[in-house]
Amino acid sequence: MSNAPPELIVIGAGGHAKVLIDTLRLMSLNVTGLTDNDSRQLGYDHVLGVPVLGGDSELSGLAPDMVLLVNGIGGIRADKLRKSVFEHFKAKGFRFINVIHPSAVVSVECSLGEGVQIMAGALIQPGCKVGDDTIINTGAALDHDCILGCHVHLAPGATLSGFVSVDDCAHIGTGANVIQQVKIGAGSTVAAGATVINDVPAGVTVAGVPAGVIGQGDI
Ligand SMILES: CC(C)(COP(=O)(O)OP(=O)(O)OC[C@H]1O[C@@H](n2cnc3c(N)ncnc32)[C@H](O)[C@@H]1OP(=O)(O)O)[C@@H](O)C(=O)NCCC(=O)NCCS
Repeated sequence: MSNAPPELIVIGAGGHAKVLIDTLRLMSLNVTGLTDNDSRQLGYDHVLGVPVLGGDSELSGLAPDMVLLVNGIGGIRADKLRKSVFEHFKAKGFRFINVIHPSAVVSVECSLGEGVQIMAGALIQPGCKVGDDTIINTGAALDHDCILGCHVHLAPGATLSGFVSVDDCAHIGTGANVIQQVKIGAGSTVAAGATVINDVPAGVTVAGVPAGVIGQGDI
């Protein structure tokens, strides 16, 4: 194996990728390049000075042990794509690094999976578990003993009280609040600004204060 430092590549070249590049620089990590399957339609070929290398197939020529990956796919309509990208590259032997902004406060008494992203100003209290590929976005907060599955997205400013659980691929919208001990089902969406006071089944969208079901997960 070569002693060259591994390449650090972000998959995706949109807004979430831009925030990740900035965060990685604050962690003293320099991104080598970005890949995006829509690279030809983007209308730009660099993000914050980092080159867009082409589609995700650019990775196929690289040895997995010489590359570190960051999943740069964000946004509410992209949760399934985010999961499939993570699983695709894991199956090929690639590793995803955890991204933790220096301003985030993360208790030492919590466990983080692989490829977890904890963005600026986020807060994670003791007893929390965060699954693989989950995003705790800007200023979001998990109080004590919350359990988050894989590929969850806690959007900016969302707050979970103690003992909340969120199953795989759920999206908790910007500024939403979830009271203590509530369970959010897999693939569900909590609308921006909602206050959730009851359990949410899998695969639905809830909105309002207090939150009620307004549709299926992909309304
Ligand atoms: C709930 C949500 C997913 C619905 O989006 P959508 O599928 O495009 O639905 P629409 O905007 O067509 O709205 C459908 C209905 O829900 C209502 N609605 C939408 N968002 C709502 C919200 N946040 N709170 C209350 N009601 C909401 C609309 O008023 C509309 O009601 P109507 O049928 O009576 O007119 C979206 O509004 C939302 O809150 N997304 C979260 C955004 C987020 O977290 N972004 C972070 C990115 S990092």
